[in-house]
Amino acid sequence: MSAPALLAIETSCDETAAAVVDENLHVLSSVVSSQIDLHADFGGVVPEIAGRAHVELLEPVVQEALALAGRSPGNPQIEAVAVTAGPGLVGSLLVGLSGAKAMAFVWGVPFLGINHLEGHLFAAQLEADDLVAPYVTLLVSGGHTMLIAVDGPGQYRLMGETIDDAAGEAYDKVARYCGLGYPGGPAIDELAGQGDPTALRFPRAMKNDGLNFSFSGLKTSVVRAMQKDPTLVIADVAASFQGAVVDVLVTKSMRAVDEIDATAIVLGGGVAANSALRAGMEAAAQERGIVCALPSLSMCTDNAAMIAAAAWHRLRTSGGDDLALGANPSLKLELEPMA
Ligand code: KG4
Ligand code: ZN
Repeated sequence: MSAPALLAIETSCDETAAAVVDENLHVLSSVVSSQIDLHADFGGVVPEIAGRAHVELLEPVVQEALALAGRSPGNPQIEAVAVTAGPGLVGSLLVGLSGAKAMAFVWGVPFLGINHLEGHLFAAQLEADDLVAPYVTLLVSGGHTMLIAVDGPGQYRLMGETIDDAAGEAYDKVARYCGLGYPGGPAIDELAGQGDPTALRFPRAMKNDGLNFSFSGLKTSVVRAMQKDPTLVIADVAASFQGAVVDVLVTKSMRAVDEIDATAIVLGGGVAANSALRAGMEAAAQERGIVCALPSLSMCTDNAAMIAAAAWHRLRTSGGDDLALGANPSLKLELEPMA
């Protein structure tokens, strides 16, 4: 008989995902069904379509995750069911929550509602379990850009965040303007490889000022430059835009590292898949002699293994949640104040 495992579900946005981890936090399976094709024609995620697609995909995705993990549904092979409770699109969150609650109830096992952002914080740790606190995590996704001091599992201090657009949002908006489709990050990343990052000098807002970020002016500068000169080479625009984003993200991350004397810089969130950001961060970390933990590409973007990792820790510290727990589209990370 196999030791009990934990099943996790993630449906906060446009990926339907399920994963199973064992009692030693080894990932036995991680299945992600992307809805990108369903939303591409609309230039972004359509909440109504996302919710309906989750309803159709949840059961087969969970069944596949269980089968790949070699576990049969229910007690005693599954010891708990976890799910993202927020932040995210409310209709999408509700599909995952209802499914997870039903399974936990019928199987008679604990139910856990997990913060999606905490999942991203755990993603790198799944692959780099030798990280030593304190370290800094740069969480860069479509909805968030945050610098977080991590003092241990569940112990987070917010050091800085965006005051307007998230980095991924800036990528998506610039890509839409350039006609590169959705999601914009991977498209700009690829195109930037063929362009000259010094062709255009875009602003680096607040680069020399503290640990907060601002990306909305950069997006506006890109649009203005293209309106002013329609003959600009798109690859040069992409490379120059990406150069500005990466410059600010790396500079501020190293400032945060210096501030708390961190042992490592850890990346998380969809934008952490960006090739220039990964290379720039690795070079800066090497210069300082600190560890640079880069999650594999599939662990950067939304997945359920990261939700399972956060749940695995919580199950062993504070246990499960009440089945009355609701979806919270604007759920915040529980943060401690900076000293
Ligand atoms: O973490 P994630 O999958 O979903 C959220 O929680 O937001 O992040 C999605 C974001 C999108 O804005 C997407 O354009 C961006 O991550 N992204 C990238 C890359 N791959 C995904 N941005 C820049 N370069 C990439 N290679
Ligand atoms: Zn995410």
